Amino acid sequence: MAGIDFNLMLIGFMGTGKSTIAAKLKEVLKVEQIEMDALIAEEAGMSIPDIFEKFGESHFRDLETEMLRKFKEKKPVVVSCGGGAVLRDENIEIMKGQGKIILLTATPETIYERVKDSNDRPVLNGNMNVAYISELMEKRRARYEMAADIVITTDGKDADEICNEILEAVNVK
Ligand code: S3P
Repeated sequence: MAGIDFNLMLIGFMGTGKSTIAAKLKEVLKVEQIEMDALIAEEAGMSIPDIFEKFGESHFRDLETEMLRKFKEKKPVVVSCGGGAVLRDENIEIMKGQGKIILLTATPETIYERVKDSNDRPVLNGNMNVAYISELMEKRRARYEMAADIVITTDGKDADEICNEILEAVNVK
């Protein structure tokens, strides 16, 4: 298996499987995996919900932008991006300058099943239901689509299948 000399940035709504697929790609490509949210929490010394609560969402979004810039010098890595990383044009520019952007998608029902027991997603606080997920996803759809180089649907597929589709799409054999 040949390697990559660029970053693979996995984007998509919460619960689309970015972390799972990043872990798989790390194994196959033998590159470092970066969990953007975990790194932000580690550097801030507090959880994502605490950052939202204490400093507000826009501060968290600033941390995301700062963090994304740092990945350029780490090339090649696989990055599992936070679900809202595409909300700023600046972030999309930064990502585009580093490699390929892979959008993972899933239906609101699939997402709900994957995230319903999670307490660490402040964006869904008090709104953990299919209707809200669906509405937020629609609001963000254009952002995800404009950022993506490659779109992969994940419903009904296992991690190996998704991983192979990505490798084929970025021409790694
Ligand atoms: C967010 C998604 C989360 C995390 C934060 C905000 C969002 O990441 O960055 O809670 O706005 O979609 P995951 O997509 O990894 O859950």
